[in-house]
Amino acid sequence: MAKSKEVFICQNCGASSPKWQGQCAGCGEWNTLLAEVQSARPRSGRAGAKGARADASTTLSAQASHEQPRLATGSAELDRVLGGGLVPGSVTLIGGDPGIGKSTLMLQAAAALNPLGTVLYATGEESLKQVALRARRLGLEAAACRLVAETCVETIVAAATELRARALIVDSIQTMYSERIEAAPGAVSQLRECTAELVRFAKTVGTAVLLVGHVTKEGQIAGPRVLEHMVDTVLYFESDTGSRFRVLRSVKNRFGAANEIGVFAMLETGLREVTNPSAIFLSRHKQPVSGSVITVMREGTRSLLIEVQVLADASLGANPRRVSVGIDSNRLTMLLAVAHRHAGLALPGQDIFANVVGGVRLTETAADLAIVMAARSSLRDVPLPNSLIAFGELGLAGEIRPVPFGEERLREAAKHGFKLALVPEANVPKRSPEGMTVRGVTRLAQALEAF
Ligand code: TYD
Ligand code: MG
Repeated sequence: MAKSKEVFICQNCGASSPKWQGQCAGCGEWNTLLAEVQSARPRSGRAGAKGARADASTTLSAQASHEQPRLATGSAELDRVLGGGLVPGSVTLIGGDPGIGKSTLMLQAAAALNPLGTVLYATGEESLKQVALRARRLGLEAAACRLVAETCVETIVAAATELRARALIVDSIQTMYSERIEAAPGAVSQLRECTAELVRFAKTVGTAVLLVGHVTKEGQIAGPRVLEHMVDTVLYFESDTGSRFRVLRSVKNRFGAANEIGVFAMLETGLREVTNPSAIFLSRHKQPVSGSVITVMREGTRSLLIEVQVLADASLGANPRRVSVGIDSNRLTMLLAVAHRHAGLALPGQDIFANVVGGVRLTETAADLAIVMAARSSLRDVPLPNSLIAFGELGLAGEIRPVPFGEERLREAAKHGFKLALVPEANVPKRSPEGMTVRGVTRLAQALEAF
């Protein structure tokens, strides 16, 4: 007889509790506990610990010798984010807002992967007709990949096993359910069990599994972090509202660098890769404008030119506002304080608005110098030359600290015609890139006086 027990699982963090509570003891969120039934039905056909023997282990060298080649997904950008192609037997989770293009990307990948072996595309959200309609729009109606409209993981796994699929795409994991669990699809215990089942399948058979995941309001893959721990690779698909550019970012990758990005453009005919995205986010003012400074950001192995804008305006209220988009607001406040103390940049009674052009989010401290320079430029209404780039981390003592990959950043900027660079002293290369003058600075005051 299968024994069933009701437990309360937090839909935010996955913590379980024997009785209902208003607040989750694990993460402190309110009203996130949901009753889920956990059945203790045994897994069939799996040997227990008793079956383990010494010869079940192996050596690293024996394993390393038969590594399978990676599968090319037909998109250099996707391959790049995956760390050089899809690894057989790996599980990849792709998260993103609704309508961002996850299904489009998966369908395009399915069509490109299919010649390498059967690809099974399991759709739980759209009907087969809708998928076919999209395929026609993408010009992929002739692709030979297999489709199934199904939400039961056991059935999908059985189908993939029968087809000896090289790759299995599950769109989306939130619509899937496992027969072993009685909770509704999308509940934490369902998500966990379905993902576990698919991970088991991928590891034993060697099929590459791609899972599409929805994102919550807070921007995390719904059905919390538990999924991120279970899979090998987590990719996020992001974009600025209204922009046709899409950025695919790896936040976790067991087979490559994390934080690698791939850039796509959403066109009428699907997603097209942008192979040289380093300057797509620049607005390229004809005349120099005040409050705008270009910096070079490092994303994985890629350098991106990013425009930072700051607007200082006389405040109408008693409490001047500090508003930032794409820049951490605490960091902005700190930088303004450093600029005040160490470079005499007085901002009383000024509202400060900071923005990163193109909906990019700055994740690096290397943009510090550019932000402060833009603030000063706006406050004094003095435009900086538009052939200038600046990067460097700012310390609380007003020092400018070096950042990694200084030379690569300079080279990328020089490639796009920038002629002047203001960088930390330690980042000044022995030989500047051709056509570029590189100036090293050690203190903030010195940097702000340079122009
Ligand atoms: P979709 O892949 O369905 O998004 P997701 O699976 O992440 O929810 O993408 C749907 C959006 O993309 C929709 O708003 C229309 C747009 N789109 C195009 O602009 N061109 C195309 O060729 C396709 C297929 C979709
Ligand atoms: Mg979709």
